[in-house]
Parts: sequence; structure tokens; C-alpha cells
Amino acid sequence: MAHRIPETVVEEVLRRADIVAVVGEYVRLRKSGASYKGLCPFHQEKTPSFTVSPDKGLFYCFGCQAGGNVVHFVMRREGLSFPEAVRHLAARYGVPLADTAAPPDRFEPFYRLHRAAVAFFQKCLQEAIGQPARAYCRQRQLSPESIARFELGYAPASWDALSRELQRQGFARELLVASGLAAMRSDGRGCYDRFRHRLIFPIHDRYGRPVAFGGRALETGGEAPAVPKYLNSPETPIFHKGRLLYGFHLAKAAIRQRGLAILVEGYTDVIACHSHGIANVVGTLGTALTEEQVRLLKGLASEVVLVFDSDAAGGAATERGLALLLDAGLRVRVAVLPAGEDPDSCLRRYGAEAFVRRVEAAESFVAYLVGRGRAQPAFDTPAGRADWIARIVPLLRKVPSPVERWGYLVELADKSGVPVAVLQREVGLDAAPAGPPLAPPPRVPAAGRPAEEYTLVRLLCHKPRLLQEVRERVCPEDFRDPLLRALYALLLRLAPQGEEAVFATLLRHAETPAQEQLLAQMAVEPLEAEAAEIARALADCMAKFQQRRLQAKRQQLKAQIQEAERRGVPVADSLLRAYHELSRELHSGFS
Ligand code: UTP
Ligand code: MN
Repeated sequence: MAHRIPETVVEEVLRRADIVAVVGEYVRLRKSGASYKGLCPFHQEKTPSFTVSPDKGLFYCFGCQAGGNVVHFVMRREGLSFPEAVRHLAARYGVPLADTAAPPDRFEPFYRLHRAAVAFFQKCLQEAIGQPARAYCRQRQLSPESIARFELGYAPASWDALSRELQRQGFARELLVASGLAAMRSDGRGCYDRFRHRLIFPIHDRYGRPVAFGGRALETGGEAPAVPKYLNSPETPIFHKGRLLYGFHLAKAAIRQRGLAILVEGYTDVIACHSHGIANVVGTLGTALTEEQVRLLKGLASEVVLVFDSDAAGGAATERGLALLLDAGLRVRVAVLPAGEDPDSCLRRYGAEAFVRRVEAAESFVAYLVGRGRAQPAFDTPAGRADWIARIVPLLRKVPSPVERWGYLVELADKSGVPVAVLQREVGLDAAPAGPPLAPPPRVPAAGRPAEEYTLVRLLCHKPRLLQEVRERVCPEDFRDPLLRALYALLLRLAPQGEEAVFATLLRHAETPAQEQLLAQMAVEPLEAEAAEIARALADCMAKFQQRRLQAKRQQLKAQIQEAERRGVPVADSLLRAYHELSRELHSGFS
């Protein structure tokens, strides 16, 4: 997964991907001249300052300065790394990722092995030996459609059925062991299967590739279970439990469409929701929410509803989860189910509508937390109540909108019995104008950069032909601004020719988000000037550079002269002459 994407693949992706279509899935775009405009998805705004230029293959926001090409857009919007975003687009536009020059992916055997194991488990579920598992599925009302959609299977009651089959297919025993599908026998001779006589729930990564398994013990009439209810794959090179969400690949589109993600705990809960037509549901697999999981949701949803079994609700882990979600700028609500129910049983007992109503009626995280506090006897003492409120307040302060925060504050006051006025300051809503600091959108203002440097680079990007003339007279070291210097160096390195603007090419080679943003900004500022005007602007820029170079040189000579005087040695004639010459040139030549 970590290996570099071949440059040819990146180029092909950029060639094929339609930036207007990709952005259009997130932003309502309206055509305006040669470009499109819409409300920026990266900051809050009421009037559109977000621009997409299909010709240049880039987007740029005049409000928050976010900008880049289609890959950068997907990175930001989906919270992906560069290679991940390229893969995402490559899959969508049918660009083959395989490149003969690329090193073999060391994870590939793991993926192939998991795919083969899924197929084996699925086959077993359909065959005669799968009878007990099929009976169990019927009893749990797991429909054939759900079984197929979630690729459920059956691990037979055998010590080595899977191991033998996969080795027969040519997979190495070491790979089976490293995947956690098998373990070595203690005598070191051969291995045995981890999953035996279990209903198998493949766990997929966000691209829908199976990367691990959960195996549920089949209920055996009443006797105390000597085996754990679920057995899961261990952490492997391709499986890190905290980095994925169960069912994410199937829920993604619905989450994006609704802007809402419903978080449940169990495998069966996710499957039950999907089979009842509620598709924006993912599972945490019974563990505490992690930052990576929140990141998966962040790009797609603006709101998350946590659905807890009544017994599972609560605990410090829940509060940490809430904090992570709020930190990501997500709205969070909590639905607690009746005692003894989980989403799966709720859906079966009361149906989809009742479940959806419950989710819609989910209380705010504040109400939920106060409710939990009130359930504790200590809440009735001043100290106990203060302690609880002190735990809630930091979460409340994470809410970016002061208006929304105010709403929660009123709720907190209402439910805790502590007057608003007392809570107000703690929540950062006192008379002082500022709330808690909002994370500012990343900014790369053109202002504050030397105008001639900015203009020169911008002109060169729009009219790369001019580079022929400039490259001899300006070198990267002449730039004071590091960002513009880097872009100029990039221009020199790529040495573009011809009349075409080169923003797309430069964006592809940009090394930092700041470079990307600045390039996008330059690109969307139209260059409407006449040829003569451009020539004059160029001359101006170059003159300024020249002047700066002369000034620097004069400064250097001056320092040498002063140094000589300080040490009491005669100043060389040539030095003095050079100094005066430079001074004259500086004062006459340039206006
Ligand atoms: P639950 O005990 O709620 O399981 O644990 P469930 O999904 O409702 O399963 P059923 O309905 O009894 O069949 C929630 C999740 O915690 C993880 C699993 O991911 C499970 O879906 N878990 C639970 C384990 O990994 N191991 C266990 O022994 C129990
Ligand atoms: Mn359950």
C-alpha cells in the first residue's frame, strides 16, 4: 500500500479525470464563463468564491485559498493521502495501477490470500458441510442477499480445511500464519486453522478489499460457551483494527449522500441496518473510536449518530470518542437503545421505521452526557455536579459555531439545573467577542509576498514562452520569497515551452500544499492584459530584480570598504570605483 504510484499513472489519472464531475459530486457548480463557481466545501460561506477551471484542471477558493488539481481535491475532501487519492481516481476512471516498472507491492500476497479465503468460506457455506451455519443464518434472519453482499461464509469444523486448500492453491504456509488465518502446531510440523466451525464475517478496507475476518461461534443449544463468541484476525500488515470501520465500503455513498453516518457496534448490527435499507451505517467492531476512523467519516459526513446498546453506553472511551468526533468538526448525537436491545434485535422486533425514528430523535451529545451524570448519585452534590460539568465543558467548547454552542449551553443549563449565567463563561460564550479559536483555513496570501516576484512567476506560468528571456537574467536565488523561489525553480526544471499555460503541469510537480494553493491562485487570476502590457510588466519585474541585485552588490562593496577603513588599511581604488559606478547605475537607470 505504501509504495509510490508511478508517475505515468498519475499523469493518466489527471488526463482522464473530469474535475468538474468530481467536484460536482460535493459542490453544486454553476457555469460562469470558462469556469464553474460554487460554495466552497472547505470553509463556511454564503456567496460562492469557489472556482473550478476545467481548462487548467484546477480548483481555487478566493475565500480560503484552498486550491489544487483534482487529486488534491479528493485528498482534502476524502481525507486521503496522495497515493490513496490517485488510486481512488484511477479506480473510477479505469486507469490500471499496475506498471511494469513499479516494484511489486509487498502487501499484494496478503490481499490475494484474503480473497481466496473469502471464496473458500463462501463455498463452504453453500455446500453440505455448511448446513449448521445456514441454519444459524436463517435463525438470525440473515437473508441470502445480505449474505452475498457482506460475503459471509462458513469455516468448517476441521483443523486444517482452509490451510490445506490455500496451500493447494499455492499460498505459502508462512503467509497463512502471518495473516493470522493459521497457526503453527506446537511440534512445528504443519499448521492449523484459526477459524473453525464459525460463521465468517469478512472485514473489508475502504476499497472493499477483504483484509481480515471475524468468526462467530454458532450457538450450540444452551450449553455454556467454552469458546469466545467472536474470534477476530490479529493485526497484520494489511489489517489495523482501529483504522477501518466495518461496512464502510458499502456505506460510503449513502453517508456522503445523507451527510450523516450512523455508528453501531456489531457486525450483525451493520448487516441488519443495510438489509433494512438503512445504508449509511458502519460498525466500530466493539472497540473505542479512533482518530483514523473519525477521519474516514469526516470527509463524507457533517453529522454522526452513535447508537449504543443500553449496557454498552458510557465510559471514558465514549467521551474520548465524542471528543475526537467534535475535534473533527462533526456534529454528534447519541441514541441509546432500550435495555437488552441492539440495533439488530431492534430492527427485527420493531422494524426499520421505528429504528430510523429513534436515530432521528437521538439526543445531542450534551444531553446524553448530562443524562449519564444524573444517573449517578454524586450528581446531587455540588462537588459531584461540578465535576461532571467540568468534564462536559471541554467538549462543548469544541463546537465551532457560537450559535450552536449557545444552544448546547442552554440545554446543559436546563438539564443540569445550573443557571446559564454560571456556565456561560466556562463555555467561552461570555460577553467577550471571541469564542474559542477556530482553526483558520490554510492561507497563502499573495499579499505579503514581493509583488514583482509574484507577478513574474504568474506571468511565466501563463506565458511560459517568456521563460526563454527570463531564465538567463533571473536565477532562483534572486527570489526572497521561498515559496515563489521554489515555484520558479520548478519552472526552470520543467522548462515548459510554447503558449499554453502550465499550471496543470506545475501542480502535478508541486511539492507542498502551499505551492499548490499559490499556483491555483495565480491560475484563476485571469491574465487579460495585452501583449504589450505583458511585455512591460515583465520588463518591470526584471528591472526590479536587477535593481535588487545591484543593491545587494553595492551593499557588499560598502561593507568591504567599511571593513578596510575600520582596520586602517587603504581602500583599493578598484573597490571605490566599482562602488560609485554601482551607485550611479542605481540612481539613473531605473525609475
Ligand atoms: P456484541 O456482543 O454486541 O456482538 O459485540 P453482536 O455483533 O451483537 O453479535 P451477536 O448479535 O451476539 O451475534 C459487538 C462487537 O464487538 C466485537 C464484534 O465485532 C461484535 O460485533 N466482539 C464482541 C468481539 O470482537 N469479540 C467478542 O467476543 C465479542
Ligand atoms: Mn447482536
